[in-house]
Amino acid sequence: EARAALGDLIEAASRVVAFTGAGISTECGVPDFRSKDSPWMRFKPIDFDLFMSDVLMREEGWRRKFALDDIYAMAQPGRGHYALANLVASGKARAIITQNIDNLHQTSGVPEERIIELHGNGSYATCLACGLRHELADIRRDFEATGAAPACVECGGAVKSATISFGQAMPENAMRRAHAASIDCDLFLAIGSSLVVYPAASFPSLARLHKARLVIVNGEPTPLDSEADLVLRGDIGDILEPFAA
Ligand code: OAD
Ligand code: ZN
Repeated sequence: EARAALGDLIEAASRVVAFTGAGISTECGVPDFRSKDSPWMRFKPIDFDLFMSDVLMREEGWRRKFALDDIYAMAQPGRGHYALANLVASGKARAIITQNIDNLHQTSGVPEERIIELHGNGSYATCLACGLRHELADIRRDFEATGAAPACVECGGAVKSATISFGQAMPENAMRRAHAASIDCDLFLAIGSSLVVYPAASFPSLARLHKARLVIVNGEPTPLDSEADLVLRGDIGDILEPFAA
């Protein structure tokens, strides 16, 4: 009946914003961050300053990235992605704010202008000096041949996956859009996030402050559960599947 309550809230809403975390993609084979067997638990993350200052760490970062890329490249959207794509297509949902870098909201058919990526996108790389986009396949070929971290083909600057590392500035445009979407929605759905990483995790509370209803869908408790109008604890795919068609 909790699921029916979600249906009722969606029915009653006119401006839905979804906010997604890694939990929406685990059924697609993409590991999340804080679950027990996550590969991310094996390493201390390489923060931005270390990536920039230490060439050995930069190479290590690329090795890790390519090891995970085979998983990302295989992944297809799951039931949660398709449910959200459906809510966008019907005009019910205005925006999907995501912390994910796996490109699966795009693959599920959501138009780029409806997707707000707070932590960037892992399916390509950019030059940190001039912004030029670099394709991972090209970088990987060179890396595997030389073992050296890639440099920009235009300016020689450092090239980095187009994701946001700890210690790196948040993307301004995405932050602005996420803020605007959060204060202007009447229903905010936080899906598959532990809601512990800031500033991303500030958006559910911001929406709540601006009178949106807040629903949290997650397999385990989050620090924001007490603020929510409805908490659905269970498997995301199972819970959202009815909204996919
Ligand atoms: P987390 O791994 O912190 O949280 C994912 C949540 O999804 C956990 O609470 C899981 O229990 C839950 N979960 C996983 N699979 C599920 C399923 N099938 N059904 C229901 N719940 C499920 O991931 P995020 O909150 O996205 O940032 O992590 C936030 C940020 O921390 C990431 O964007 C990344 C990371 O460090 C950066 O890299 C900057
Ligand atoms: Zn460059």
